[in-house]
Order: sequence, then C-alpha cells, then structure tokens
Amino acid sequence: MTSQSAKTLLTLDAEAVASLKEGINFKKSQEDGKCYIIYKNNDGLRACKNQCKHQGGLFIKDIEDLDGRTVKCTKHNWKLNVSSMKYVNPPDSFFQDELGDPMDPWLADLREPQELQEGEVKVTYMTHACMEVQLGQKRFMFDPWLIGPAFARGWWLVHEPPTDCLDRMCTADFIYISHMHSDHLSYPTLKVLSDRRPDAPIFVGDTSRPVFWLQSQVKLTNINVVPFGVWQNLDEHLRFMILMDGVHPEMDTCIILEYKGHMILNTVDCTRPNGGRLPEKVDLMMSDFAGGASGFPMTFCGGKYNDSWKAGFIKNERKKLLNYKAQLVKSLEPRIYCPFAGYFVEAHPSDRYIKDTNVKNQAEDLNALINKTAPDIKTWTPKPGAVLDLGLALKDPTNSAAITNPPANAKIYKDSWDFDLYVDELNSAIDSEIFRHRRWIQFYYTWAGFQNYNLVVRMIETDDDFEPIADGYDYLVDFMDLSYPAKRPDREHAYVEVKNRIGVMRSVVLHGHLWDDLYIGFQNRISRDPDVYHHKFWNHFQTELPFRKPDWDQFLQQVPAIEEPETQSSCKLS
Ligand code: FES
Repeated sequence: MTSQSAKTLLTLDAEAVASLKEGINFKKSQEDGKCYIIYKNNDGLRACKNQCKHQGGLFIKDIEDLDGRTVKCTKHNWKLNVSSMKYVNPPDSFFQDELGDPMDPWLADLREPQELQEGEVKVTYMTHACMEVQLGQKRFMFDPWLIGPAFARGWWLVHEPPTDCLDRMCTADFIYISHMHSDHLSYPTLKVLSDRRPDAPIFVGDTSRPVFWLQSQVKLTNINVVPFGVWQNLDEHLRFMILMDGVHPEMDTCIILEYKGHMILNTVDCTRPNGGRLPEKVDLMMSDFAGGASGFPMTFCGGKYNDSWKAGFIKNERKKLLNYKAQLVKSLEPRIYCPFAGYFVEAHPSDRYIKDTNVKNQAEDLNALINKTAPDIKTWTPKPGAVLDLGLALKDPTNSAAITNPPANAKIYKDSWDFDLYVDELNSAIDSEIFRHRRWIQFYYTWAGFQNYNLVVRMIETDDDFEPIADGYDYLVDFMDLSYPAKRPDREHAYVEVKNRIGVMRSVVLHGHLWDDLYIGFQNRISRDPDVYHHKFWNHFQTELPFRKPDWDQFLQQVPAIEEPETQSSCKLS
C-alpha cells in the first residue's frame, strides 16, 4: 500500500523564532524527532535538514570556523556554510536543499492500489543494474549492461545474465537508462539493440549532461528525454517518473514505476536520490549497495596511501555505506527491498591488485542488517534469472512461490570474459595519426576548456603495469594559464601526477570521452601534493567536457604539412 501525504517538517512559533540566537541553531522537531539547522541574521532565517547531501551524515558545529557560519559533517567531513547553503568542502561543489521546497511530485494524482493477480507483475534480475519488470502486458527494462566491459576495460560483469537477455532487451516495450556511466549506458550492449531494433523506446531524464551525449556511437532513433518529477503515462495503469540525484543532478537519475497504484522505486546508484526526499512504503525498492565504484583510494599512491591505510579506509567506508543504505531502507519502509547494481569485478588480469584490494559490500550483509533492524521489510538477493512475483509477495511475504530461482544447473557467475576483443579496440587508438604530432596536447586541452585553476598536472603514458613507456608522452599541463611547461613553475601551486595506461588514455583523447574511463575504471595511478581533492578539475574532466569530440581532422589539417612527425620520445620530461 502506498500512502503519502504532504507534511509540515518544522514549525516554530513567534516565541521560538525570537529565541533563536544569531548564527547557527541546531533544532529537533517535536513532531518527528528529526534534526534541522536554522541560520539567523539580519536578513531573516534560512533552514535545512541536518542531513549531509553526501550520504546523509549529521552536521555539528565546525570548531575551525570562526565566523560561525559553517557546520561540519560527522561522516566524511564535508562542510556546509549555512548562511549561503553552499558546501565549502568539497570546494565549488553543491548547494544544500532548503526547507520550503514544493510538494513531492509523486503525491500528485495518487492512485489507490488495486489487487495484483499472480503473474501480473514479475520482476526478473538480469545482471548488475539490469532488471526486467513485466507489468500486465508490458515489459520495462532498466539499465541493460549485458555484454562487454564498462569504464574502458576496468569493470566486467560478475553475473552470467540469462541466455535470452539480449532478446528480452530487444523486445522490451520500454527501456530506462539512468545515466551515462557505462555500467548503465553500455555501448556494446546498445550496439546489439541498435542493430536489431533501432527504434526501441528508450527513456532518460532531462539531465544537463545528456545521457546520450555520444550520439554517434549507436544509431538509436527513439530516445525520449523526459522532465524530472512528472508522471509519464504509458497506458491506463502504467506510469513512471524520473527523479534527479541530489549530489549529481547534472547527470544521475532514479525512477519510480507505478502499475495499478503499486510503486516500484529504483534509486539505482544515486548518491543521494532526489536529495533524500523519496516515497515511503513503496511495494518494491531496489538500490545499489556495494561501494568500491571509484578510483579513490585504490589507485592513489605516495604519502599516506599505503596498503594498510587504503584497506582501513575502504573498510570504514563500506561500513558507513552499509549503514546508510540500511538506514535509508528502514526509514522508507518498502514492503520488499532488493540490493542490486553492485555486481562488477575488476576481472582483467592486469587489474589483479584492484580486484584483490577493492573489497565491496555483499548484498547478503546489507539484507541481514535490514532484517535485524527492520524485520517487517522482506529482502531479496536475486541470482541472474530469478523472478519475483510481486502480487504473490505482497499478499503473503512468506509464500515461497513468490520467488522463482534459476534452475540448479544455471550458470550464476562468469568465469571468462572477452578481454582481447575490447582491449584491442581501445589499444587501436595508440597508433592514431594525431599522436605523431606533439601539438595534440595543446589541441586537446584547449578543446577540454579547463583553466584559471592553480593546478599543475603531469600526465605520463604507461604500460599495463603503470611503468612509463619509453617513447610515450610525459608532459605537464599548467591549468592556471593552460600552458605546457617543461618543468614545474616556481609559484606555489597544487600538483597532481597521473600515470595512465596508454591505450585507454589515447582512446579517451581520440574520442573525447570523459575521464571516468580512467578514474572509475582504475586505469591510472595518481599522486598529489598537497593531498587535496580538486573537485573542480575532476568534475570538469568527468562530467563537463564538450559534447562534441575534438575535431581531429581539422587538427591534422592545421598541423603544418612541413612539420616532421615528431618522435614521441622528444616529449619526455627530464
Ligand atoms: S560527508 Fe557527510 S555523509 Fe559523507
């Protein structure tokens, strides 16, 4: 049963307002026991939930802040300036949602749930973030990553999807793609779709960074961009609504699917789905759980980044993520909860170190925690091909017929991957003609468009073991004025050194891809001085590169015909 209503979050009478002190006030609501922060000054009041945008941590007073405007999150030390509602750590990053936002959009036009018959709504797990949901006569598919790697060659599927998964994708009535990361927007998978059914209806959210920004990669002709927070009616009983992520609204989304008044909430891998405002008591909720989906800290070296520090850090992070997810599920009280979207493995033999050390949460552990803290919520850890009959499960959560597991002899885990096919394709960029001319560096970074930032980056091309290649490029970029000095400048500056596998780096440059392939795909090794996360820099190269790839044809025409192709060894720094 879905039951929601608009509610007042925090009420303060005149006396309470008068008793607020100038600056930061921490308040607890009498009604629901939740915590809020109110900032008071001559201009009036600003208020927000005491809930960090990152993963919902609690803010406390920041004792380093002498102005009395900043609070600090107890989880990972993000800092929020409450007078501007802007985060100051990470710098140049996010705004906090303030109280007084409009009503939750799914409350518009609420529908009474109707009884579901056996077999009417069936949810089949494919692999990673890919679920097929059959609702009456229609079939919806989420995030089909069914073949090939993601993030260049860094991520591979853990699970062997059902043998007919590609057929099912190609005959689905609707496909939702949550965001542009390649474990959700999988070009090898979508290539099959575009070959077999180019007009398959695909739905994506209206993110400022379009999901299909690399249009040319596949010829799909029926991509529908839908606005956030508005019901999209598919037939008399079926509708869906796409919501944005609170931390990455420019690129990440999640979805509510509703059939005959029954809601399925899929928060995919949003860091903070819809800024933390989500429907309660949905019939089925699914979300990520695993962690480990970042280059940090496993690809970092130097300074404190030794193996024991990294192991301690990710253990702690995993635990926090597990508690956050369990807490979120408990507070939303879905009838059934299913962890998914975390089944990848760094399977390529050259990534053995990452595979061995980048330990992730187990879905079973999260479900065990939920079972302990919220025993009324039924949990489901599906194997590929497992089917949940929602009607049966809602009628009687203990009914074992509600879940059909794959046959005992079905292959659950992959034990081989087509490495060479995809790695060779990436490596084919190495011999591109553009890299015969050192000026590709200027051309590329001018195209990228990031500057006026006091950071110097050294980029080094390496082999698979991150050993510099003798005739590979090794150069500095000074992002202050976009120059390419032979040595580090004398002025004070932040410095980052990045060793990149040559095939992936050149493929990224050649095709104008985002640097996720390198960073999230574990294809580089990073050291930095000082040890600071440059949000602006990484955010630019991971989400803000131009939509059109660099015009290398123009570049090749521009490079003076008389210029001898430079040998790459001439680019080495001493
Ligand atoms: S910094 Fe607040 S939850 Fe991570």
